[in-house]
Amino acid sequence: MATTALITGASSGIGLDLARVHASRGGDLVLVARRRDRLEELATQLHEQHGVSAVVLPCDLSLPGAAEDLHREVVERSIDVDYLINNAGFGGYGLFHDIDPDRHEAMIQVNVLALTKLMRAFLPGMIALGSGRVLNVASTAAFIPGPLQAVYFATKAYVLSLTEALAVELAGTAVTVTALCPGATVTEFEAAADLEGAGLFARGAATSMDVAETGYRAMLDGRTVVVHGIRNKPIPLLARLVPRRLAATLAMKAMQKS
Ligand SMILES: NC(=O)c1ccc[n+]([C@@H]2O[C@H](COP(=O)([O-])OP(=O)(O)OC[C@H]3O[C@@H](n4cnc5c(N)ncnc54)[C@H](OP(=O)(O)O)[C@@H]3O)[C@@H](O)[C@H]2O)c1
Repeated sequence: MATTALITGASSGIGLDLARVHASRGGDLVLVARRRDRLEELATQLHEQHGVSAVVLPCDLSLPGAAEDLHREVVERSIDVDYLINNAGFGGYGLFHDIDPDRHEAMIQVNVLALTKLMRAFLPGMIALGSGRVLNVASTAAFIPGPLQAVYFATKAYVLSLTEALAVELAGTAVTVTALCPGATVTEFEAAADLEGAGLFARGAATSMDVAETGYRAMLDGRTVVVHGIRNKPIPLLARLVPRRLAATLAMKAMQKS
């Protein structure tokens, strides 16, 4: 029987390519994001190319209660989710005290709360069934403080910490949870976060398909953390060696616009 992956943020970038990777292996999908038209187009395409079924559930995860509503909808439709992929997320460039507080709130809702609630909702079923995979898309931002994207970096540190803790809690069950940590990647993220011109992306960025394939493989292998890209591999070690204040100062330099 085909495995079903629920992917948040499947309307573009890494989430869309994760959907393509899963479908190419014959897996069914539940596609989640706000832009219904994009999801429907992708569902049709994946059905035509791979014969898989893709259910479209448009949803704004920044709204309180959205994750609970999404889980309810999945249960009502009797869909068994084998892989939960928490990928939806966004950032925001600027000084903490200048950024609209509503934007910070929405960022925390999507990057932190929705991800937490979806795992809390889907994990008990997976544990009872004795199988299941969770993939949380974090970032290399998870390892260091990030001035000029302070809340975004903090949300990704949360995702990494939660994933690492749950990996230990779940040892001994057949369920695994994986954090994918990409560096700069060519998607709609850069524009959505107002990061155009920031040094980080000017130094080159990965393709979303390459990142998706790395994350998907690590999820199937049950790895706890995977950092994408040869250039990014040293980041976790460097983050442990370099004083936090210095790391934050260097991160700010990397983030500055030319
Ligand atoms: N690109 C990078 O450089 C990079 C690096 C490290 C980590 N990441 C992480 O990778 C993940 C995917 O981002 P991406 O790079 O692929 O960016 P992207 O192309 O902008 O995709 C973001 C996805 O999240 C969805 N999303 C945003 N707000 C949402 C909301 N309120 N409710 C539901 N869905 C929402 C978007 O769909 P709709 O707009 O249709 O809702 C879209 O499908 C994010 O968690 C991001 O933090 C990205």
